[in-house]
Amino acid sequence: MLHQILTFQDLVAPLDRRVFLRDYYRKRHLHLPGGARRFDAVFGWDALNRLLASPTLWDYPALHLARNGEAIPQDVYCYRGKSRDRTPVNRPDIPKVRALLSHNASMVLGFAEYLTPEFSSITRTLETVLGGETTAAVFHSYRDVQGYPVHYDIQNVFALQFAGEKVWRIYENRYPNAAAVKGADPSDRPQGEHGQRKGALLDEVLLTPGDVLYLPHGQYHEALSVTDASLHVSFGVIHDVVTYFLTQLIEDLAQDPFYREHLPHFDDVDGQQQFLHAAGARLKGFFDSPEMADQFRDYLKTKAFERDWQFQLPDTRSPKRYRVCWNRGRFRETGVGTVFDIDNRSVSLQRPAAPILSWLQHRDYFLADELTKLGHDLPASAVEDALSVLETGGVIQSMGA
Ligand SMILES: [Fe+2]
Repeated sequence: MLHQILTFQDLVAPLDRRVFLRDYYRKRHLHLPGGARRFDAVFGWDALNRLLASPTLWDYPALHLARNGEAIPQDVYCYRGKSRDRTPVNRPDIPKVRALLSHNASMVLGFAEYLTPEFSSITRTLETVLGGETTAAVFHSYRDVQGYPVHYDIQNVFALQFAGEKVWRIYENRYPNAAAVKGADPSDRPQGEHGQRKGALLDEVLLTPGDVLYLPHGQYHEALSVTDASLHVSFGVIHDVVTYFLTQLIEDLAQDPFYREHLPHFDDVDGQQQFLHAAGARLKGFFDSPEMADQFRDYLKTKAFERDWQFQLPDTRSPKRYRVCWNRGRFRETGVGTVFDIDNRSVSLQRPAAPILSWLQHRDYFLADELTKLGHDLPASAVEDALSVLETGGVIQSMGA
């Protein structure tokens, strides 16, 4: 069952989800206060301790420690052990980890995006709505201790506060188009540079349990725990950049004999001009073609959804997954039920399937199977018909197998 624990609207509440996409996403930071119990069903101390009780998950660097703004060298708290497949790896020495934590080290658990059903659901929500691969890391830190110094991230970060309180200082500058590209990745830059480039303090936000802080990629920031123990999870959405796409494209282009032609001799100036002209024209024709438009869209969708496996064993068939295209139209209540207005058309469903549209307006993704379990006693054929009407009408879109 593809249960959605938090919808995108839940994540950006109390702001309207469309307003968030229009005014904030990839543009500017936003503090979204929530009630203390808002994330109770998602994560907390018990869930953290359960994760840590799965020792095979936590080789270095999946688990790592920092203190006073610097990473603690792994040899301080790791030993040479074996990974799950028995290959040599650095593993955390738990007594040493405990000792460092008791002296206010911060602990980070990385690669957490699909680690629990709840994290998977949030990751899937972000990937579905925003169209970028999403990562997650759990941060556990103590009072007045800075885990990491001022820096920027390549991700668009959604920090969810689960326990304790943390002050985030957000600075006015952003690194332009931060990306995992040599020179633009924050780890490639000297730490002193971050301090010099961050600019003036733009905002200071106190994050309490149930709050979300959104930070666009490249925004300089730092965080400091103010309570005895703080627990937050940062989900980060990464969008592919132009060079990633071109790199992939170059491999495909090599199938065209034109791109395997020998380059002209360095004395052949006319030949060089002809080559550059021909290569430019060839590439332009390729980029302008309808096939390229389809290929580009497939590439973007694949990058967003490629890690999202779904099984419904013992049934080995692939479940049908859909996303709800709420950002392309608008749900509206009428006297006879919910309709979806899109491109000057209105999409509606006949009874008994009519309640499906009302249900869909609160979802970002779903499995076809969920519709049959809605409690409307819908026969499978009615669900099939409804899915067909909704997909043709542009209300939903297949996410592939
Ligand atoms: Fe960060």
